[in-house]
Amino acid sequence: MQRPDDDTSLTARWLRPMRRAALWLPWVLAVLVAVYAVGRFGADEPVTYRDIAEHFKYGSTGGERESGFPYWIWRALPKVCPEHLPGEGYASLGMIYEPGKDLPVGVSKRFHLGIDRVFLNCAVCHASTVRDSPGAAPRLVLGMPAHRFDIRAFEAFFFNCASSAKFRSEFIVPEIEAMNGGLSWLDRTVVYPVAIGLMRERLLMLKARFDFVFDQPEWGPGRVDTFNSAKVLFNFPMHQLPAKELLGASDFPSIWLQGPRMLRDDGERMELHWDGNNTHTEERNKSAAFGTGTTPPTIELGAIGRVEDWLLKRQPPPWPYPIDSALAQRGMPLYEHYCADCHGRDGRDFSGARVGHVTPIADIASDRARLDSYTYELAVNQATLYAGYPHRFRHFRKTFGYANMPLDGIWLRAPYLHNGSVPSLRDLLEPAARRPSTFYRGNDVYDPARVGFVSDRAEEGGQRLFLFDTTLPGNGNRGHEGAAYGTDLPAADKDALVEYLKTF
Ligand code: HEC
Ligand code: HEC
Repeated sequence: MQRPDDDTSLTARWLRPMRRAALWLPWVLAVLVAVYAVGRFGADEPVTYRDIAEHFKYGSTGGERESGFPYWIWRALPKVCPEHLPGEGYASLGMIYEPGKDLPVGVSKRFHLGIDRVFLNCAVCHASTVRDSPGAAPRLVLGMPAHRFDIRAFEAFFFNCASSAKFRSEFIVPEIEAMNGGLSWLDRTVVYPVAIGLMRERLLMLKARFDFVFDQPEWGPGRVDTFNSAKVLFNFPMHQLPAKELLGASDFPSIWLQGPRMLRDDGERMELHWDGNNTHTEERNKSAAFGTGTTPPTIELGAIGRVEDWLLKRQPPPWPYPIDSALAQRGMPLYEHYCADCHGRDGRDFSGARVGHVTPIADIASDRARLDSYTYELAVNQATLYAGYPHRFRHFRKTFGYANMPLDGIWLRAPYLHNGSVPSLRDLLEPAARRPSTFYRGNDVYDPARVGFVSDRAEEGGQRLFLFDTTLPGNGNRGHEGAAYGTDLPAADKDALVEYLKTF
């Protein structure tokens, strides 16, 4: 016969350690949760690429930390707000998808704050495609202007979607699940709802701060207002600035062969950016990195450094079509006579008395809005950037004209002039009155005869192209005219010059 207390003692013997464990359990759980949270939410791991071209296209410069969109929200939004896109997905904004990739060229990914986050890198504005004919496959060229990417429409998409009633977990999370986003219970119930709320707040804040942009004429693909955006970073009161400095939209430039751009043959630094406001390519790179969402504490100098080193020697691709070499030979002395002093001896040798210097606005006489958008006040503020770092900015200054830049790979840099107001090289050699007053931007089909992208078609392969109107403020196509600029030459000489420029 068992005594009852035997039974109790047996139970007690079982219960005691369990009770003890129960006391510990919350602590153990707390530690496990903390370890998980630190592991998950403390991790900061960019997707990295050993190959430099892959790094340029998809590598992180650090921008996701401060500005990154949660990866799955990025993927879901075109499905949540299709009415705010011109067509299907991000490709309809002129972003380029390589076969088999889930992100377009110029978008990088990092695991940060517990989720995959994505943001832009240099390639989004400095890489694009060219096609020989509407039926041909596009070739991706790294370092050329992203002449198809409409960054303002990109901004508008996020701002408009964030303002709509659909920017909520109830709409976004189901789209993610439908794409097999593999969200865990924690993601679905906590992480993503919080991330969606934070992202909406941030986008609405940015929308308010960047609203001056939407008072400007549309930029169209391949253009951005760099320095008014920089003023926003410094909290300039945009609505109190004089109207004449609020129109800075200009073309994305090519960024290859930065090495020979660092020094002129007389040992001076080239003054570059369209208006020549900075003499140091290192600062131009770091300044550009603000465009990729980085700030002094979040920038990845190593990752930018890899891009920087690669750009020093990166070459533009050669002209891929036939060249009439006799005609080009005739163009060479004309070029040397009229152009070499300002633009360099040829496409690789950038020597010339005025290369990398600024031609005063009265002389070049092109549209002055971009020049006026860059102000002395902004230069002073930029000199505070990276204060406390060895690479504090010290080379930004106000200029009074546009820079005489090298013309390497000029065939891929159409449309021409800083504001992209002239569709082809052949048109640039005509006086402004004979240049097209409207044309279409954003086509990657090439026109080897006029040297530029096809610009007389409103639509290509189902994609609507952008009608650029040179009569709108900031879009003027005048300037770079007169005897010194070759526009008075006989037509046959202009043809010869253009043929020679194909070798650059
Ligand atoms: C949002 C688009 C955008 C992004 C992103 C961007 N750039 Fe640019 N970049 C521009 C524009 C526009 C200019 C011309 C600015 C001007 O002078 O008005 C420019 C100018 C430059 C120049 C000077 C070119 C010259 O010869 O004058 C360099 C070098 C450059 N970028 C490098 C980079 C690097 C490196 C990155 C990545 C860290 C980057 N850019 C990211 C748009 C961009
Ligand atoms: C006095 C210096 C000077 C001379 C001479 C000159 N240019 Fe220019 N060129 C410039 C400046 C400055 C710009 C930029 C103007 C702007 O963007 O508003 C420019 C722009 C260009 C561009 C457009 C570059 C781009 O990326 O959009 C081409 C092409 C060009 N010049 C070709 C020529 C040719 C060809 C000649 C000779 C027939 C010539 N230039 C003579 C100063 C000069």
